[in-house]
Amino acid sequence: MFKRKIAVVGATGNVGHEILNILAERKFPATEVVALASRNSVGKQISFGDKTLIVQALEDFDFTGTKIALFSPGGKVSAIHAPRAAAAGCVVIDNTSHFRMDEDVPLVVPEVNPQAIAGYKKRYIIANPNCSTIQMVVALKPLHDIAKIKRVVVATYQAVSGAGKEAMDELFNQTKGIYANNTIAPNKFSKRIAFNVIPQIDVFMDDGVSKEEWKMKVETKKILDPKIEVEATCVRVPVFNSHSEAINVEFESAISVSEAREALEEADGILVIDRPAEMKFITAIEASATDPVYVSRIRKDNSVKHGISMWVVSDNLKKGAALNAVQIAEILVKDYGF
Ligand SMILES: NC(=O)c1ccc[n+]([C@@H]2O[C@H](COP(=O)([O-])OP(=O)(O)OC[C@H]3O[C@@H](n4cnc5c(N)ncnc54)[C@H](OP(=O)(O)O)[C@@H]3O)[C@@H](O)[C@H]2O)c1
Repeated sequence: MFKRKIAVVGATGNVGHEILNILAERKFPATEVVALASRNSVGKQISFGDKTLIVQALEDFDFTGTKIALFSPGGKVSAIHAPRAAAAGCVVIDNTSHFRMDEDVPLVVPEVNPQAIAGYKKRYIIANPNCSTIQMVVALKPLHDIAKIKRVVVATYQAVSGAGKEAMDELFNQTKGIYANNTIAPNKFSKRIAFNVIPQIDVFMDDGVSKEEWKMKVETKKILDPKIEVEATCVRVPVFNSHSEAINVEFESAISVSEAREALEEADGILVIDRPAEMKFITAIEASATDPVYVSRIRKDNSVKHGISMWVVSDNLKKGAALNAVQIAEILVKDYGF
């Protein structure tokens, strides 16, 4: 019998949990699914559809015979174990930032550059882009196809789930603490996140740009077009899940609002909800636990010759991470015989 064993690495985390849900929901054709995490989680039970999986230690796991592994255990752990899995003949789809800018590793968003998956053969590793980049490039691609994009200015409003499960607890406990007069000091974030916004995601680099802002720039170039200039300001907001982005796009040639709307409406993976007069626009709460990249508030940007502004929201754990990774795995099965 044909065997398709797959592994979910970081299965007890936010992204891993979502990967298991999506694999079950989309009936991914695996004959066996293995859940891996740190030694602390060995023996834990986690649900997968109507089954229960017992967590095993990544460190002790032999990837021989495993076809595909979906990794989200953090960059340092992927750096060690993704090449180990690849050496055993298992293709790794890695959610961390560790391999994304490696020339020999494809960086893939299936709606934007599915052809890049063919490059998996070099290292047996495929990188999943950063969550804020994924939703932005899905929305930019149909516009870039009809009027070349010159420059993008983006401000993000990023949910705490993007920083892992402990970060979600920090928002919850700080918020509760404020009402109970019990101040809880920042730990996962550099400042208080409850009732606040923080213009820092990831570390600051020498030029003052945060690493998250840098990622949005270099990843967009690698996935969509190296000629596109990106200026990003990434902000953490006290929202549990789903990232929102205010995006101003400058084009080389003319594009009307109706042309932009039509292109976005026809694109795979996008849902346009844009009737502001009737209060029809999307927010993070409505986007959570759903698959699409939502686009609202499509309008002319009159501050440049050819400009469009829009509001783009998506579930960062789903399309921003787990769903994108599972879509890549589905293409490996369908087009590459895995
Ligand atoms: N959250 C997002 O929106 C998002 C989007 C894109 C990419 N990512 C990336 O995905 C990664 C995970 O994010 P997350 O939000 O899921 O974090 P998380 O909720 O903190 O989960 C981390 C997972 O990694 C496992 N892990 C930690 N150290 C390990 C080790 N030494 N060996 C094996 N497993 C280990 C943890 O297992 P234990 O429970 O046993 O500790 C847990 O399953 C990060 O690199 C993040 O940047 C996240």
